[in-house]
Amino acid sequence: MIDQTGLYQLQDLEPTAAEFATAVSAGLSATPRTLPCKFFYDAAGSVLFDRICDLPEYYLTRTECRILARRAGEIAALLAPYGSLVEFGAGSASKVGLVLSKIQRPLVYVPVDISRSHLLAGAAILARSFPRLRIAPICADYTQPFELPEIAAGMAGGAAGFFPGSTIGNFAPDEATAFLARARQILGAGALMIVGADLQKDQATLHAAYNDAAGVTAAFNLNLLRRINRELGGNFDLSGFEHAARWNPGAGRVEMHLVSLRRQSVRIGEERFDFAAGETIHTENSHKYTVEGFGAMARAAGFEPVECWTDEAGLFSVHAIRAR
Ligand code: AVJ
Repeated sequence: MIDQTGLYQLQDLEPTAAEFATAVSAGLSATPRTLPCKFFYDAAGSVLFDRICDLPEYYLTRTECRILARRAGEIAALLAPYGSLVEFGAGSASKVGLVLSKIQRPLVYVPVDISRSHLLAGAAILARSFPRLRIAPICADYTQPFELPEIAAGMAGGAAGFFPGSTIGNFAPDEATAFLARARQILGAGALMIVGADLQKDQATLHAAYNDAAGVTAAFNLNLLRRINRELGGNFDLSGFEHAARWNPGAGRVEMHLVSLRRQSVRIGEERFDFAAGETIHTENSHKYTVEGFGAMARAAGFEPVECWTDEAGLFSVHAIRAR
């Protein structure tokens, strides 16, 4: 233990600059061009994301928190047998407290996040609010294999998982199924997972949520180019690209793109990338589910749906699923 607040030593598997460079080079060389959305979350991007969560148009966070607060007792009861709780993509870890407030027994909480600054800040705040909680943070890309810290693996009752925010929507359906199957492997047989999934809804609501009037989502998207400039020696002119978020009805997802506003060349280190006017870099997918569709996916990954909670307007869903 590193201090009196229940915070254990960080397990640091933060992606390296080389991994970022390789992913950027591969994505920008592909047709159509892509960049992985997990690299949005540098320190600046994580702050921008937290601002997105407070936007009036971005109903997801607010709605999910309302569901979690209302169902916290039921969720805590479902979590009762488990000795540890692993949060995938914990970010600032602001949602888990809604559930933790209903849990009095000893519990190890393992927040996993790709942004070290955000992870540690969130863990420190939680440690203050829940002095009896044992927190074992892991800085990692949770799409890559990682092992549970000894302190969590040693707890009787096994591990449960928490994956809120509809972050699962960043995966294509086959990747999401593979992710759940891997999580099942990490957590072990009988594991319960609490997963937030955004629901399909009218296009206007979705469009507004990803094209906010204040331009925070645009800044979040463009920050990826700023990060490439800073960390990889790129020379993107940010005024030469524009944020675009579009609903793709066939795929059931919102797509975020960065549109090149003119013909232009960009250098990143030794490499040169030539963009045509109107050409886009596809930076993120946000898949939207139906309750039934999500359940079918959970089953395909080796889970059994246990409960599903939604808000009155049917905007968002929180699922409890148990590993077979
Ligand atoms: C954190 C992946 C759930 O897809 O809605 C917010 C990220 N992108 N605005 C989402 C995001 C643009 C968010 N997730």
